[in-house]
Amino acid sequence: MAIRTVGVLGCGLMGSGIAQVAAASGYKTIVREVNDAALQAGMARIKKFLADGVAKGKVTEEAHNKTLGNLTGTTNTADLKECDIVIEAIVENLDDKRAIYQAVEAAVKPETIIASNTSSLCITELASATGRPDRFGGLHFFNPVQLMTLVEVIRALTTSEETGKTLTEFAASLGKEPIAAPDRPGFIVNRLLVPYLLDAIREYERGLGTIEDIDKGMKLGCGYPMGPFTLLDFVGLDTTYYIANIMFEEFREPRFAPPPLLKRMVLAGYHGRKTRRGFYTY
Ligand code: CAA
Ligand code: NAD
Repeated sequence: MAIRTVGVLGCGLMGSGIAQVAAASGYKTIVREVNDAALQAGMARIKKFLADGVAKGKVTEEAHNKTLGNLTGTTNTADLKECDIVIEAIVENLDDKRAIYQAVEAAVKPETIIASNTSSLCITELASATGRPDRFGGLHFFNPVQLMTLVEVIRALTTSEETGKTLTEFAASLGKEPIAAPDRPGFIVNRLLVPYLLDAIREYERGLGTIEDIDKGMKLGCGYPMGPFTLLDFVGLDTTYYIANIMFEEFREPRFAPPPLLKRMVLAGYHGRKTRRGFYTY
């Protein structure tokens, strides 16, 4: 199936990155947010990333203008009607995702593929919430989408061969490296990454070291680009908490359980960089 127009649901951390990359790759891209304020914040994030890219000599003026020219923002789901694929990147919550799929299906063509960027929810369950379980799959991007080259492609039990192939080819057309991942919570990367991040919080609570020293240890001792607390703030503590709950629900193993400190920080509104306060202050 030929993809020309891409819809993105959510213009938060991930949706803004996905929309930027799709537009930069030549697709007409329409990104949908819940209200004008959220849309403007997401669009501003895209414009800043592009402007920084130009200033760093990584993005040409031409690519900057082409990307913005291909991109439209909306708060109206009906504006997605021409989309050949809609990538959902809204909050990690099953009910919210189900509700938005219903609204999208009322607007788009029968052949349109819907893909979720979920970090941990069951792709088969999401697919079953739509009237097109064969034209549904997981496309899991990594943060920051503009710089991370991996995309996990997840087929639901119901995903058709053609949809799976289209999703893989589409990810490659964005300049990404697709890998096939199983429909299990966390897929491949988060299955290994999330217990590590949760363990860092638990061990910090048990007095392993300061936040700064644990981060420095993993960064300088292992060559990781970010220590666990910097990465937690970067991913979002709210998103990490939702992911941990979903993974614990499925596996019932203590290592996936959200540590008490994470829960309390989320309840206090300390969601990491996006709220300017997490394990660090920004
Ligand atoms: N436009 C274009 N290019 C840009 C840019 C911009 N605005 N900003 C930076 N770049 C380029 C830089 O020029 C540089 O390119 P070169 O390597 O060619 O020199 C490269 O991007 C790296 O940029 P910086 O040197 O400025 O930044 P950095 O070295 O500090 O790296 C980072 C930043 C890539 C984010 C790095 O810190 C990193 O990899 N962190 C870990 C991120 C990670 O683990 N993400 C996964 C999170 S988990 C997830 O996403 C899944 C989930 O479901 C939760
Ligand atoms: P975020 O909180 O930064 O953004 C979510 C955005 O979705 C918000 O701007 C919100 O206003 C918007 N939204 C909520 N309901 C909506 C709706 N009905 N229609 C349109 N927009 C709506 O979250 P995020 O980090 O971008 O995460 C989004 C999804 O991507 C989640 O499923 C998450 O698990 C997944 N993900 C996150 C990361 C990460 O590192 N943060 C990485 C990979 C995947």
